[in-house]
Amino acid sequence: MGDMIRVENATKLYGRAGANGAAVHALNGVSLRIDHGEFVAIMGPSGCGKSTLLHVLGGLDVLSSGEIYLDDEPVHRLDEAGLTRLRREKIGFIFQFFNLLPTLTVEENVRLPGLLQNLNGGEIERRTRALLEAVGMEHRAGHRLHQLSGGEMQRTALARALLMEPRVLLADEPTGNLDSEASSRVVELFREIGERHRTTIVMVTHSREVAHAAHRVVTMRDGRVVD
Ligand SMILES: Nc1ncnc2c1ncn2[C@@H]1O[C@H](COP(=O)(O)OP(=O)(O)OP(=O)(O)O)[C@@H](O)[C@H]1O
Ligand SMILES: [Mg+2]
Repeated sequence: MGDMIRVENATKLYGRAGANGAAVHALNGVSLRIDHGEFVAIMGPSGCGKSTLLHVLGGLDVLSSGEIYLDDEPVHRLDEAGLTRLRREKIGFIFQFFNLLPTLTVEENVRLPGLLQNLNGGEIERRTRALLEAVGMEHRAGHRLHQLSGGEMQRTALARALLMEPRVLLADEPTGNLDSEASSRVVELFREIGERHRTTIVMVTHSREVAHAAHRVVTMRDGRVVD
C-alpha cells in the first residue's frame, strides 16, 4: 500500500532550449506525495505550473523527465493507449470552463461518460439520479446549459466527473468564476464526496478561502513545490 499519487522529480519542458530562448520549464523538479482519500489544494502565481501538474497527473500530457505513480502504476511509462485507459478508469476531470456540452441537458451531460464507456443503462440511470441529488441538481435535470447559473454548471460538471466513480478527481480552478457562496458550496461537495468515496482530490485554486476547505495546501512557484 503506497500513496495514491507519487511524483518524483518531475520536469516538463515546453519548446526547445537555445533556439530562440522560448523554452519554458513549466515543471522544474516537482516531488509530491498524496494519500488515498486526501484532498489537496494547489496554489501559486499565474504561470507557476499548476495546470501543467494536473495535466501530467491525469495523463493528458507527458513529462520531460521524472516519475509519476498513480495507485502504484507508473504513469510516466504508459503509451498513448495506456494513458487513455488510465484516464477512463481512474480519473475525473473538472476544468474552469466546465467543458460541458451546451446542447445537452443537465442529465444528458452527466450520463455522457457512461454512454461513451458502455456502462450498463440501468447503472447509468441509477448513478445519474444519485449524483444529481448529491449535487442538488435534480430539480434542474431537464434544463439546458444556458438555463443554468455558473454554480449550477459547476455542480453539473462535478456530477459528470464522478459518474465513472474515479479514484482521483483533478479540478483546475473549479470555482474560478463563482462568487464566494457558490464556491463554498462546490468545495463543500468536494469534501463530502471525497470523504464518502475516499476519492483523492487535487484542486487548483487562487482563492485562500477555497483552499481552506482542503486537507492540505501545496504552494508552487516557478515550476517547483515550495511549501
Ligand atoms: N503548450 C505550451 N507551450 C509552451 N508553454 C506553455 C504551454 N503550456 C503552458 N506553458 C507555459 O508553462 C508555464 C506553466 O503554465 P501553467 O498553465 O501550468 O500555469 P498555471 O500555474 O496553471 O497558471 P494560471 O494560474 O495562470 O492558470 C507558463 O509559463 C506557460 O506559459
Ligand atoms: Mg492554470
